[in-house]
Parts: sequence; C-alpha cells; structure tokens
Amino acid sequence: MSHKKVAILVSGGGSNMVSLVASMTGDHPARPCLVLSNDAEAGGLKKAAAAGIAIAAVDHRPFDGDRAAFEAELVKPILEAGADIVCLAGFMRVLTAGFVSQFEGRMLNIHPSLLPKYKGLHTHARALEAGDVAHGCTVHEVTPRLDDGPILGQARVPVLENDTPDALAARVLVQEHLLYPAVLRRFAAGDKTPVQLG
Ligand code: GRF
Repeated sequence: MSHKKVAILVSGGGSNMVSLVASMTGDHPARPCLVLSNDAEAGGLKKAAAAGIAIAAVDHRPFDGDRAAFEAELVKPILEAGADIVCLAGFMRVLTAGFVSQFEGRMLNIHPSLLPKYKGLHTHARALEAGDVAHGCTVHEVTPRLDDGPILGQARVPVLENDTPDALAARVLVQEHLLYPAVLRRFAAGDKTPVQLG
C-alpha cells in the first residue's frame, strides 16, 4: 500500500506535530513527508529534524505583509515534497483563499476551542470569561474562511473552578494530542466521520 504523504506546518514548539508524527507508524495509511515553518528558529523544526523528517522554513517577515508573495514561496516545499495532505499544527499565519484553494478538501487545522465558538485567538480566556463549563478543541477542514471549515473531530474538557487560561490551555492541549492523530488516521483512510472525544 502506498502511504498518503503528510506535510505539517508549524510556527512554534510543534507539540501537535510531534504527536502526529509519532502516530504515523505501522498500518497507519499516512507518513510525514515535510515539516515546514514560517520561523526558521521554530522549536518544531528542530524536533522534526531530530526525527529524521525533511524540514523547511520560509520566513514571512521579509514579505512585509504581501501575503501572496509569502505564500508563493511557502507552497514550493509542500509541492516539492509531493504532499497529499497538509496539516496546520500551531501554524500562526492566516492563509489566503488563493493558498487554501490549492489544497481544497485535503488541508486540516486544529483550533483550541469547540468551534463554532471562539474563532480566532485567546480562546481559553474567552471561554473562561463567558463562564463556560465545557471547552475543548476542534479539527476541521481548512476553507478560505478562518476557523470555519467542516468539523472532523472535537474533544471536550471540563472547565474547573479557579481555572486560569494557562491551566485550561494545558488541559486542552493534552486532548489536541489525542484528537489530531485520531482524525488524521481516519481522514487519510478516506473516512470523514467526525471523531468525538471527552
Ligand atoms: C497551542 O496553543 C494549540 O492549542 C494550538 O497551537 C498552539 C501551539 O501548538 N493548536 P503546538 O505545540 O505548536 O502544536
């Protein structure tokens, strides 16, 4: 069986990337082909290199806000690696419709909230502010609208008394590391049945 090739895009430490890479073994239908970042110093790149995975970096800063020019460079290593699936994993640059449309139906993202609640940033603080009793994370297909595509999986965690945003974020992150690999395994096998954890 030929494996699906997965490119993973990171901006920071890449803990979700580490979980995804660790899951792609044995009879898993996919294998990592590239870890790519907008930051050459991203911790995730060091971890990927240590795991023997091809890495690349395209710094967004020289493009000075010209998103299309940045994305024209960003897409090159993904195409050169022959990626079948692109996983955004803690990737912190907003991607234009032009970039996303090249990967329609085969680009995933993990977002730290129970979408459609709390699109965008500071999700944990917003959930606490709202007095929510449950919170969590979502894996969804990436479409041109930010944090908006078809939901492929969710994991829920309780919000506890005296939770701080950091404590809640840490509880959610544990679930991210379970949810994303579960969704990717199904998605790579052609199964879009949503995964529900917690
Ligand atoms: C985390 O806050 C996570 O919720 C979100 O991106 C951030 C960094 O993730 N998905 P990672 O450790 O770089 O995967």
